[in-house]
Amino acid sequence: MTDRPRVLVTRVIPDEGLEPVREACDVDLWSDELPPPRDELLRRVAGVDGLLSLLTDRVDDELLDAAGPQLKVVSNFAVGFDNIDVPAVTRRGIPAGNTPGVLTQTTADLAFALLMAAARRIPESVDYVRNGSWQTWGPMLLMGVDVHGATLGIVGFGRIGREVARRGRGFGMPILYHDVHPATAAEEAELGARRVELDELLRESDFVSLHVNLTPETHHLVDADALKVMKPTAVLVNTSRGPVVDPDALTDALRGGEIFAAGLDVTEPEPLPADHPLVSLPNCVVVPHIASASRVTRGKMAAMAADNLLAGLRGERLPTPINPEVYE
Ligand code: DGY
Repeated sequence: MTDRPRVLVTRVIPDEGLEPVREACDVDLWSDELPPPRDELLRRVAGVDGLLSLLTDRVDDELLDAAGPQLKVVSNFAVGFDNIDVPAVTRRGIPAGNTPGVLTQTTADLAFALLMAAARRIPESVDYVRNGSWQTWGPMLLMGVDVHGATLGIVGFGRIGREVARRGRGFGMPILYHDVHPATAAEEAELGARRVELDELLRESDFVSLHVNLTPETHHLVDADALKVMKPTAVLVNTSRGPVVDPDALTDALRGGEIFAAGLDVTEPEPLPADHPLVSLPNCVVVPHIASASRVTRGKMAAMAADNLLAGLRGERLPTPINPEVYE
């Protein structure tokens, strides 16, 4: 018998987070590369005091019932928390935390990398060399679209959206943004950004980068109608959540030349099966949800997830709660 708290950690995370949790708690660590199947998750969560979850684990009434009334805290190893039913945890008085801030720059870097890869057809060009097609310098070979000076439209002007805008500024790009919350005049001036309606942003932008949370309002925000409004030379970048874009509509738009290309870090479904048309379309660059995947950033996310978990177990306020209303 031990009076150390019992916690479930649903995947191996960097030592910056795992070590402090192991020092303070009895840890049940799910060490497979794939997430625990639902029935295994429900079985293992029973009786734990704390849960360190990933964005692949659905935290809802069913899971909270399976855990039991002693559960003190849920700490999500991600900034996004659409996998957590926030009203359900709050109703039970359980604080839940996420990892905001530490992954902003790394995620913005990848959004910009996808933007450039799709614009300048880099994966296609790499394949061209690898498969032995490269015979000479070609005046018409693998022509893309220019990034510098092109208009960059940011949908969702939060932390990450603004950092993508900052990168665009470095390329001399005028910035349009759409967000329900306007930035201040000083922020707009600093980033050279102008707030517009979504329709105008889609119509005027050469690059559209998505940075909204997944909510019922943003589900399939980019659908067939939205894609039709975009320029035939436009590039769509999604590093937010897959279901913000309708994948069938995007497939049709890329096939039919309604837009030039897309760069996707997130997809619907996720993972995208290898035989999905978006995987083989030459003008679609898909990477496996790696926007925050630098060693340093994942270490910081792990440390932050541990801090939230341990604070909750001690009965202290989480450093970064997603449901601060639980303390009211
Ligand atoms: C998040 O944190 O929400 C990202 O999608 C993964 O880092």
